[in-house]
Amino acid sequence: MHSSFLLYGANGYLGTQIARLAVQHGLKPELAGRNKAALTELGKALNLNVTVLPLDDPSRLEQRLKKTAFIFNCAGPFQTTALPLVTACLKTQTHYLDITGELSVFESLLRYDTAAINNKIMLLPGAGFDVAATDCLALYLSTQIEQPSHLTLAFESQGPATLPPGTQRTAIELLAYGDRIRYQGQLLKPQRRFKQKTIDLGSGPKPCLRITWGDAVTAFHSTQIPTIENYLSLPLRQQQLVRLSHYASPLFQFAPIRQLAKKLLVMPPPTLEDCQKTQTTVWGEVKNQQGEYFRAQLKGPEAGSLWTADIALQMIKKVLAGDTKSGFQTPATAYGADFILENHAVQRTDLNHSV
Ligand SMILES: NC(=O)c1ccc[n+]([C@@H]2O[C@H](COP(=O)([O-])OP(=O)(O)OC[C@H]3O[C@@H](n4cnc5c(N)ncnc54)[C@H](OP(=O)(O)O)[C@@H]3O)[C@@H](O)[C@H]2O)c1
Repeated sequence: MHSSFLLYGANGYLGTQIARLAVQHGLKPELAGRNKAALTELGKALNLNVTVLPLDDPSRLEQRLKKTAFIFNCAGPFQTTALPLVTACLKTQTHYLDITGELSVFESLLRYDTAAINNKIMLLPGAGFDVAATDCLALYLSTQIEQPSHLTLAFESQGPATLPPGTQRTAIELLAYGDRIRYQGQLLKPQRRFKQKTIDLGSGPKPCLRITWGDAVTAFHSTQIPTIENYLSLPLRQQQLVRLSHYASPLFQFAPIRQLAKKLLVMPPPTLEDCQKTQTTVWGEVKNQQGEYFRAQLKGPEAGSLWTADIALQMIKKVLAGDTKSGFQTPATAYGADFILENHAVQRTDLNHSV
């Protein structure tokens, strides 16, 4: 086992957070990416080695990957970065992990399951809040009643932290992709565009909006529950903005429009103080055809930065310790429903249930 690993996209906002946290825990990632100046500066600040590896140079990538046990990818949007890295990982028998939340990326990496098994490597996308938190809650809930047929997941952020800048940019990139849900085993475009549901995430019933979330692929893979929906608790005014952006989504097919939206709309990264004042609640419910149901929730830190960086760190420690499974894995299939509780700031509570 190699003692080091490549942290790709290390100079980005999340990459830097994960690199700093790794160093605090005595780890020595090698910082990788395409941005030589930014990587060099970070390498100096953290006293870590740096490798410049543009994705359009596969032979250089493969040469470097031959000397590492795994790569942890923080370079998003992952619809651009995941496949070149996974292709090189398969050729060099290197484990691959990332923090994507992009449904299309989960879908495409799932197609490499057999290739990953044959090459004895793990492909584990979604090693951040999205999708580790909902995926672990989904697996936990799926074991609480017989033959669950419906899974509903929702989350809410309470506090001042904004989303990481790359998450905002990735969300703009994904607008043109449109909605997807898992319905009776099929991944499809929902007939109804904006579905609302009133959910009590702990502070009284609130209107939640159905969103497209990676669980339609990952929680289905982890639990085989045939119908899966995700909701986001948002104040009504923000729900109206989301609706507006969806109506304008055909415009986002055009790259110049996406570039302009990124320039005009992306807010600066959240401060550490704001992240520390922010909490996240994840709520889930399973039901079956017999009318049984079970609900539970997770409460944890701010999702996009603090919780994501911690999940990434826990996964990195596991892979460094040799704890891997071949093939396409979700956080929960790799490390179980209780993985999410390894962060002591996270609490899981059983709510009301019929059994
Ligand atoms: N799973 C979760 O819960 C979760 C949480 C937070 C963030 N995320 C995701 O993580 C990603 C990163 O977020 P962030 O805020 O760190 O973004 P960021 O600050 O914009 O950083 C992005 C990084 O990716 C690199 N990159 C982008 N495209 C690349 C390409 N084609 N080839 C090589 N490198 C490339 C950038 O390099 P340059 O410096 O050269 O541009 C930069 O290092 C986003 O997609 C976001 O949605 C997921």
